[in-house]
This record gives sequence, structure tokens and C-alpha cells, in this order.
Amino acid sequence: MTAKARTAILFVCLGNICRSPLAEGVFRTVVSERGLDGAFEIDSAALGGWHVGEPPDSRSVAVARRFGIDISDQRVRLIMAGDFARFDLIFGMDRANMCRLRQLAPEAAHDRIHMLMAFALGREEEVPDPYYGDEADFLAVYGRIREACEALVERLAARDGSAASSGQA
Ligand code: 4NP
Repeated sequence: MTAKARTAILFVCLGNICRSPLAEGVFRTVVSERGLDGAFEIDSAALGGWHVGEPPDSRSVAVARRFGIDISDQRVRLIMAGDFARFDLIFGMDRANMCRLRQLAPEAAHDRIHMLMAFALGREEEVPDPYYGDEADFLAVYGRIREACEALVERLAARDGSAASSGQA
């Protein structure tokens, strides 16, 4: 049996400290819970460079930890030109992220760029920026991301058919 290529997924937000590190950590967890670790390459990146090299925001680390997910090892990186060729799917968290991603991406990559909630759940909803918010906002962000990631893995596993078997190879 030939090995199936991994689906490469990039989560993107403005700072890569609040939402996209949570999405990366939650998606990794959901994928792992389903025994699909080998089926995906998963990463996250920033559109703005203010926090490059830093760990995720302590409020994102805390909400992830509350649900048994450790995202503290992640470090902020900026999105780069090569990401638009390397990743099969690139997910922005809100409409502003989507505008910026479409500005940065070559035309050929535009069909790989989606807003997370819209692609995963068919709902044109944003994962709102919680940076100036409080713990409740981070909890709400976690809830949206968790719901989206659960739906996303189901959708991709169904689409790719053999994803489950390649994940266990
Ligand atoms: P994120 O949140 O895009 O979810 O990581 C933000 C983090 C930092 C800033 C804005 C949003 N900032 O302006 O530094």
C-alpha cells in the first residue's frame, strides 16, 4: 500500500499568540484522539510581527491547560511566502485575517485560504480577537475553535477517505 501524503494545515491569526496557537493545539489533540496523527502536518503563524519568538499569550495557555492541552512550547512565527505553497489548507480566524491573507497570497493559493468556522461548520462566523478581552472571551474562543476543529477533522477524514489508515501506518 502506498503511503498517502499528509494534509498540511496552517492556522493563522494576527499575532499568533491567542487564537492560532489554540487552534494548532486543539486540532493536534482532536487529530490525536482519533488516531490520525500521521495524517496531518499542523502549524500556526502570525500576520503581524510584534510577538515573533514569544510563547502564546498566558490566557491562551491557561484555557488550553484547563482542557488538558499544553500549548506552552509553541513560539510565534510570521507567515512567509513559502507557506502558500507548503500548506494545503490555510485558515484565517476572522475577516480581517482573510483580507490580509488574500493580499499576501499568490492567486494560485487563494482556493486554499478559508475562514476556519466557515470551512469547518459552514457558518460565516469569526473567531473573534480576544486580545483586549478577559477570561470569558478566551473561553468563548476556545469553544469556537474546539467545535471547528472537531468538525474539520471529520470533514477532512471523510474527504480524504483513507486518512484514518494512513494515520495509523
Ligand atoms: P491573536 O490576538 O491574533 O489571536 O494572536 C492578538 C494578539 C496580539 C495583538 C493583536 C491580536 N497585538 O496587537 O499585539
